[in-house]
Amino acid sequence: MVNVHRLWPLPPEPSSDESENTPKEVTRIGSADDVGDQAHGHGTGLTGPTGPAVDDAELERLYAYPEPLERPWVQAHFVASADGAVTVHGRSAGLSSPADKKVFRLGRDLADVVLVGAGTALVEGYRGVKATEVRATRRARLGLSPVPRIAVVTDRCSIPPDSPLITDTSVPPLVITPAAAPADLRDALTEAGAEVVVVGEHRVDLRAAMSELDRRGLRRVCCEGGPTLFGGLIAQDLVDELCLTVSPLLAGGDAARVAFGPLPHDPFRLRLVSVLHSDSSLMLRYQRDR
Ligand SMILES: NC(=O)c1ccc[n+]([C@@H]2O[C@H](COP(=O)([O-])OP(=O)(O)OC[C@H]3O[C@@H](n4cnc5c(N)ncnc54)[C@H](OP(=O)(O)O)[C@@H]3O)[C@@H](O)[C@H]2O)c1
Repeated sequence: MVNVHRLWPLPPEPSSDESENTPKEVTRIGSADDVGDQAHGHGTGLTGPTGPAVDDAELERLYAYPEPLERPWVQAHFVASADGAVTVHGRSAGLSSPADKKVFRLGRDLADVVLVGAGTALVEGYRGVKATEVRATRRARLGLSPVPRIAVVTDRCSIPPDSPLITDTSVPPLVITPAAAPADLRDALTEAGAEVVVVGEHRVDLRAAMSELDRRGLRRVCCEGGPTLFGGLIAQDLVDELCLTVSPLLAGGDAARVAFGPLPHDPFRLRLVSVLHSDSSLMLRYQRDR
């Protein structure tokens, strides 16, 4: 049983002189007062609040895509250590936790398509999203197909046609690649069952890729990274939401951070929309402030 608690948004606070005097632009996420000293037994004021527990329905509501969607909406999911690493020994698994996995699974369950870079798909051994009964039931309730498709982005068309991403799936994956990708590799992927989508001449044009997803009615886009793809999306201001789990670990080393790539003219501003915690992991959700 994974216990996930909500820090933000909190239920409305009772009005008091103190809260009335709080400047509106400074919003309190929580303090030890919210749970009382006895909850942690210290009364130091340094321990954060537990916050109300969050059930599956509330999680669904918190992570839901906006409705109606008139264009693709990119909700990116990452897990990083407290010192910013996205891998431990080259993979993300060592950073995750039951609560992070729950939110990650939810990301897939709410999406029309899972967008991923070829590097992540290969390193993490991607295959088609499993069509479980629980997933299909939840998705049917939300008006979604039984499983989201996977769309993999690759300049070099580097996904082997016999990889489980292509062969072990109940829905054809999309392989998004530029015209310059070797034709024999593209043909082999098509033959193996993938839908090859050509966008851009020498490099994948991510904006055009979004239009292709849109054309297929795939507007709820769950991007699972990795850093290179995410950096490319950031550079073109195509990210709408970042769901970031901060794991209670110091990983050190030379691991990448969540984004890598071209430098945008200025950083894009985000707005904090929810904060959950579980077992010292923080699950932050930010939306692009457009
Ligand atoms: N902690 C986490 O949440 C998390 C999440 C995801 C991944 N990771 C980790 O990140 C590492 C992989 O990093 P990565 O940066 O290599 O991942 P990536 O972005 O998934 O893969 C990079 C590759 O994807 C393709 N690609 C990405 N962006 C593209 C673009 N804009 N246009 C065309 N092709 C594009 C290229 O493939 P081709 O070379 O085929 O052209 C590129 O070499 C792995 O160790 C993985 O475990 C961690």
